[in-house]
Amino acid sequence: MTGYKIKFNGIDRLYDEYSWRLTRRAKQVWSQGNVLQGQYLEKFEKELAKKYKRKYAVAVGSATDGLYFALRCANITINDTVVCPALSYIATSGSIKRIGCNIDYIDTDKNGNIDVLKISDMALPKALVYVNLFGNVAEYETLKNICKRRGTLLIEDAAQSQGAKYKKQLSGTLGDISVFSFDPMKNMPSFGGGGAVLTDNKDHYETIKSLRRHGNGGNFEYGYNSLLSDDHANQLLFLLSKFDKLQKLRKKVYQRYQKNLPQFNFIGADNPHDSSYHKLVLLVEKRDELKKWLQGEGIETKIHYAKTLDDSGTYPNAESFCKQAISLPIYPFLNTHEIDLVCNKIRKFYDV
Ligand SMILES: Cc1ncc(COP(=O)(O)O)c(C=O)c1O
Repeated sequence: MTGYKIKFNGIDRLYDEYSWRLTRRAKQVWSQGNVLQGQYLEKFEKELAKKYKRKYAVAVGSATDGLYFALRCANITINDTVVCPALSYIATSGSIKRIGCNIDYIDTDKNGNIDVLKISDMALPKALVYVNLFGNVAEYETLKNICKRRGTLLIEDAAQSQGAKYKKQLSGTLGDISVFSFDPMKNMPSFGGGGAVLTDNKDHYETIKSLRRHGNGGNFEYGYNSLLSDDHANQLLFLLSKFDKLQKLRKKVYQRYQKNLPQFNFIGADNPHDSSYHKLVLLVEKRDELKKWLQGEGIETKIHYAKTLDDSGTYPNAESFCKQAISLPIYPFLNTHEIDLVCNKIRKFYDV
């Protein structure tokens, strides 16, 4: 119990909607006793790869691990460089720090994504990790061309963008390797987190599959055990079958916010590609005061993100997002009354 009238995360609503089916799915696994690396995990990986038209999908313990495993495919040494955006969740740069190499951070464009125009002059990186921030896709074709020219591994951090599209191409296919998150905050959450890595490259697939569990009987890889359990995989199989429907509901929530708040600046609103509507982020003046006021009204909001991933103070766009961004509750079963209430309170605060 958070004490909020309107909570930021709606995974409990998802459970309310599908409770007996989700519970039955979990029990199905528990009762037959094969709870790790079993048939449900295998089936989930197959279905996920099929849905995203990729040759391989490997489920892992988290997207944080997935990004790190993806980077391991690029044979990076500590003298190498990896490029990533200056604005994202800490897991994006954290995976590179775990490798231990240099990082070149790039400022964001006006949609909050990596500014592709700022990449071209940089030294040849071994890998480029980019994010479709808040569910809005970055300039994939430009990124792909830059990476192709330089022989750089393009890694799509798709933790926030499952369901988004670049032109007609689904997020999850927008990189040599793409990584999803099933964290409880994400568009397709498991009731316990998890992640998946998707690729068409057999060598990368084998590396990642081996890394997730101590080398999996091949060469030992010391120190890794990163599994998605079969009960979560079985629940995710169900949620995958409902995913498009849930995305439509999420989009409706986003559109109602937009209709109610025409005076406000929604990050990504100008992005021509289909968003996953993962986060609804406004850029506002007096952001901290607004957050406090909404809290007093029983409405939970978050700040994504309070700081840039690098604190050198050289990313003016990203830094201005950090000062102005506020994320409002968005999930498929947020009802119209609740959306209207949040919007009315915001309008009241600004007297518009
Ligand atoms: C952009 C981004 N990358 C990576 C992650 C890490 O995901 P996980 O929680 O599954 O490790 C997140 C999760 O919040 C994220 O938002």
